[in-house]
Parts: sequence; C-alpha cells; structure tokens
Amino acid sequence: MHLVEGNKMNREQYFKNDVAFDALYPPAISEVAEQHWTPLHIARQVADFLGDEGKHVLDIGSGAGKFCLAAAHYAPMASFTGVEVRKKLVKAATDLQKQLVIDNVTFIHGNFMDLHFADYDHFYFYNAFYENINEQGRIDNELPLSDAMFEYYADNLSRMLSERPAGTKVATYHSFHGEIPTGYERVAWQGGGELTFWVRR
Ligand SMILES: C[S@@+](CC[C@H](N)C(=O)[O-])C[C@H]1O[C@@H](n2cnc3c(N)ncnc32)[C@H](O)[C@@H]1O
Repeated sequence: MHLVEGNKMNREQYFKNDVAFDALYPPAISEVAEQHWTPLHIARQVADFLGDEGKHVLDIGSGAGKFCLAAAHYAPMASFTGVEVRKKLVKAATDLQKQLVIDNVTFIHGNFMDLHFADYDHFYFYNAFYENINEQGRIDNELPLSDAMFEYYADNLSRMLSERPAGTKVATYHSFHGEIPTGYERVAWQGGGELTFWVRR
C-alpha cells in the first residue's frame, strides 16, 4: 500500500468504501468489521450531526477506531476521542491513525467509567455493552461478561449522560436506548431507530 503522509486526498480512497477501509486492519480485526465496527456511511452521518467546529466528541467503546478515524476525516474541525477497554484494539486504532495521518483523534485505553464526561461535548455509542448479553456478539473471550455487567454499564452511562448540560448531543447505533436518560429528545432517526440522534434539552 502507498500512502503519502499528511495528504488527505490520498487517504480519501479508504473512506469511500468499507471493504477498502477494513482491509487496512490486521486480518483478525478486519474479519469482525461487519459485525462490530461502524460502517462508513453511518460514521459520515454521525460526523455531520456531532462534529461541529471546535467540539470534542467521545466514542464510548471505540474498538479498532473505525468510527473515530472516519468521523475525524469527515469532520476535520472537530476532535474525537475513543475510549476502549481492549488494549489490542487501541493499538490497532493508533497504528492506523499514524498510517492515515489523522491529527484530530486520540485513543485512550481504559473503561469509559473512568473518564470525566465534562471533558467532552458530544457522545457516540454503538451498543458497546451488547456482548455481555449475547454470546454470538463477542469480539473475543478475553473479558468477563455478564447480564449484570450489561445493566451496570448501561445504568452508569445513563447517569453520566444525565449530568451533561443542555445542548449535549448523543448518537446511538444499534442501541436499545436504555442508556439514554430522561431529558434527551430524540431529534432524528433511521429505520426502526437503528441510528438515532438525541439532544439534551
Ligand atoms: C460495537 S464495538 C464499536 C467500536 C467503535 N465504536 C466503532 O463503531 O467502530 C464496541 C466496543 O466497546 C468496547 N467496550 C465494551 N465495554 C466497554 C467499556 N466499559 N469501556 C470501554 N470500552 C468498552 C468493546 O471492547 C468494543 O470494542
């Protein structure tokens, strides 16, 4: 692969096509892309909604960084942070970030619960806790997973979002919406709500 560093035109080709983008990852990560990483056309819509100039967006459970990297490419005037509990995925994300030369992204290895949501303006959530309640949906067998953990994380995410001020935006993808607290208005959605946009009133 040839990629001229720092040249947005040259990386543009990878952001037009999920197959081309996913192939940039090591095989073990690209193989699970369809099930676990945000498709590019969804990332573009979320970037349009959340990626206002000067705003800082947190991806809660950023996986191999596909959403953050794509959104950062589509919305270069915003900045994006991904927090991810699996170290190997954070490494894949930062490796690809360097390769694509994207500056407005940061990846953090850790649990979203250890972050201060006050450091961020808007939030993206692609049903990060689902593997706790669905064995078929697991990325690997490295984490302790359980129904109780699903509820614990969802309750805490709801509490953390409830503490954010009016104007906070959230985009959810394939979420059950249980993480969205009272006070957030559903302002737009697609399909049966598979992609939903929320604003705190
Ligand atoms: C469905 S994937 C989405 C990845 C990324 N947002 C994207 O769309 O490309 C959800 C990710 O959340 C991570 N995750 C699950 N629970 C987490 C937690 N408590 N804190 C941080 N990351 C978590 C998982 O390891 C997984 O990589």
